[in-house]
Amino acid sequence: MCGIVGYNGNSNCFPFLISGLKSLEYRGYDSAGVAILTDSVVNLVKTQGKLDNLREAFAKAPLQGVLGIGHTRWATHGEPNDINAHPHKYGRVTVVHNGIIENYRELKEALMAKNHHFTSGTDTEILAHLVEEELNYGSEPLAAIWKTIGQIRGTWGIALLIDGYSHTLWCAKNGSPLILGQGTDESMIASDIPALLGATREMIFLEDGDVAQLDGPDIRIWEGPNVPVERAPQTIQWNPIMAEKGGYKHFMLKEIFEQPRSVADTIGERLHADTRTVTFSDFIFDPKRFDRVFLVACGTSYYASLIGKYLIESTARIPVEVDMASEFRYRNPLIGERDLLILISQSGETADTLAALALAKEKGATVLGIVNVLGSAIARKSDHTIYTHAGPEIGVASTKAFTAQVSVLVLIAIHMGIATGTLMGEALAELVGAMVRLPKQINKLLSQSAQINVIARRYSHAPAFLFIGRGINYPVALEGALKLKEISYVHAEGYPAGEMKHGPIALIDEELPVLAVAPEGSTSEKMVSNIEEVKSRRGKVIAIASQGDTNMGNLADDLFMVPRTHPLLQPILTVIPLQLFAYYTADIKGTDIDQPRNLAKSVTVE
Ligand code: M6R
Repeated sequence: MCGIVGYNGNSNCFPFLISGLKSLEYRGYDSAGVAILTDSVVNLVKTQGKLDNLREAFAKAPLQGVLGIGHTRWATHGEPNDINAHPHKYGRVTVVHNGIIENYRELKEALMAKNHHFTSGTDTEILAHLVEEELNYGSEPLAAIWKTIGQIRGTWGIALLIDGYSHTLWCAKNGSPLILGQGTDESMIASDIPALLGATREMIFLEDGDVAQLDGPDIRIWEGPNVPVERAPQTIQWNPIMAEKGGYKHFMLKEIFEQPRSVADTIGERLHADTRTVTFSDFIFDPKRFDRVFLVACGTSYYASLIGKYLIESTARIPVEVDMASEFRYRNPLIGERDLLILISQSGETADTLAALALAKEKGATVLGIVNVLGSAIARKSDHTIYTHAGPEIGVASTKAFTAQVSVLVLIAIHMGIATGTLMGEALAELVGAMVRLPKQINKLLSQSAQINVIARRYSHAPAFLFIGRGINYPVALEGALKLKEISYVHAEGYPAGEMKHGPIALIDEELPVLAVAPEGSTSEKMVSNIEEVKSRRGKVIAIASQGDTNMGNLADDLFMVPRTHPLLQPILTVIPLQLFAYYTADIKGTDIDQPRNLAKSVTVE
């Protein structure tokens, strides 16, 4: 999960490469580098660490050229240092790569036996050696690339330059995303849409197995050796501003504050309040076709799936199984033709989720993807796709994608409930009405964000936190704990409140604050008891409660009120103070909020 960019045109390429890499830095930030063709020779500047290091290194040894490639790395093979930073050059061939070459060891040994000398510990370097080897046998570049691809196994997004070829950039894709940008006098490549938005909105999504050749603005694509293919450009509606911070200190904060818009856009024209129906452009649920639903995802998207189980089971009365994708693929799941597998993924690229997709298809299940990134692998491979219209999410910690995912799940639950005849009349009207009010309520909630900042400051020295919730708000507790862990590096655990007395209550003392997600509802009395149990052991409680809940006000040490809504919609509101709590805690600690250590936005390796 690295980021790749490339430029081929008639302007100096470095500004495009560096700004493209900046918008891809969320994909990995262990090292970065560029390769630029000057006087028919490709020269490299690369360095360990973030892009600022690359900028500094480049300022000391600047390169001018109109053809170049760049890379930002999340290390898989070989530690993050200058040598292992991409690009890698061998002989005439320079390459950047996203993915994993699984059989690189055996290929490397074979090449070493032919006196090839390797400088890095990466799997990527093998690509430059293989292409160079084929060039030495007299192959033309395109043929050399196809022969190389014929020898490797694994996943790749590759961009490649060759000394002496002053007008051409080659690239190839298999399992890692690669998008081509079509300009008037130029063409570009990138791993993700935001990197191209500043230059063009006309984009071509390469398919797995494709090789492309870019000569200035001329783009040619092959789906096999000597098999040319046309891939139509799509006009992308995202605008460059959406991928910028817009005056916020961090992308994460901007993305939290975008939620009124992202939830409204996701509900969009799918919810017909007048007729109380929900329609999707690419999916109609037929209850006669399916006995069960599976929800499978990773991380935050998995927590959205847990909420999806509550939603679908309570409205449509269809049994739902939820799995982490990394577990699903190895448990030989009992899934078949009469099952609907719903995969949830912001990036649409997560390796485990993709593997779940392949497995379910093999077993004959129908796959519905809920995806944010347009044209991503899960979107393309699913039988049906529903996009969350969250817009580009750059912060590594997922926020607006989560509430958009839950919004889609509510829509699916309504759609299914109507189809099965289990959601109708007053119950349907209440849910639809509440859904319509939601974006304004999120806005109102966000206008009180300063209160959360004050609470976060009060507890910022706590060494650990416990998050508790019940029912549909239990996954919110899990999500709140994940947010805090990943950006503030403070240990946090999410727990079902009813399970406290089966173990975790032993942890309670004055030092361990408990965040209780406790809006009104069928389990609120139980939550009150659970909070009393914490209080009577001198624990400190921060409660997320419903507006006007005086009971909770008297009980908790600190309180944040969320607007009242339909119980099934509560997670979309209750999660927001937890996102803010994590954000403000991390900001106080001064961590790298948008790019927390050891993480990358999309996890395209197992
Ligand atoms: O792109 P996906 O939704 O498939 O990603 C899944 C997880 O990797 C992701 O949600 C991760 O847990 C985030 N860092 C959470 O903030």
